[in-house]
Amino acid sequence: MEKYPGKTNIAVFISGRGSNLKSLINHSKKKNSLIKIILVISNNPDAKGLKYASKARIKTYGIKFKNKSNFENNSLKLLKKYDIDVLCLAGFMKILSGNFIKKFSKPILNIHPSLLPKYKGLNTHERAIKNKDKFAGASIHKVTEKLDSGKVILQKKVKILRSDNVKSLEKKVLKIEHEIYPKAIDKILINP
Ligand code: GRF
Repeated sequence: MEKYPGKTNIAVFISGRGSNLKSLINHSKKKNSLIKIILVISNNPDAKGLKYASKARIKTYGIKFKNKSNFENNSLKLLKKYDIDVLCLAGFMKILSGNFIKKFSKPILNIHPSLLPKYKGLNTHERAIKNKDKFAGASIHKVTEKLDSGKVILQKKVKILRSDNVKSLEKKVLKIEHEIYPKAIDKILINP
């Protein structure tokens, strides 16, 4: 596939709402942006984010998750076809295999709603509130075979107030997620 001069080809994997995808699309549309979002894949063909992406004239594919290898093989073909340089996971709720990571062989990033290495996995806000943490936050990290354990590229904190509950904290953290994901991509492109 033809490359856009001065741009890095990005693919995004999502599972649902796609608000982080939206922030990446907005970022890609800015003047002098380093990225072009070429492809969005979801394991859930009804994901809201797919509709938004196709409205933005981005190629979208819903690949039902029959099993991991079927999903991964179909995705790998598309990543190759569209000459993708960086894969961004954004609210993608499946775990990619080591085989997939090796075969793609380019950077894969993920966004996680906690201050890694704290709270890998699910229910991060619940755990932070339960432990009476003073801060929560979001992290962008490189994807490796071990869940939520690759090198952290960017992280931002947010205060947990006594009045916060899971919902209010989720809202605050989501706001910073939208802020740091585009920054983290630029960071690895400028300084790989
Ligand atoms: C985000 O909080 C992300 O960090 C988490 O799932 C949520 C996805 O939201 N893993 P969206 O689909 O980007 O709106």
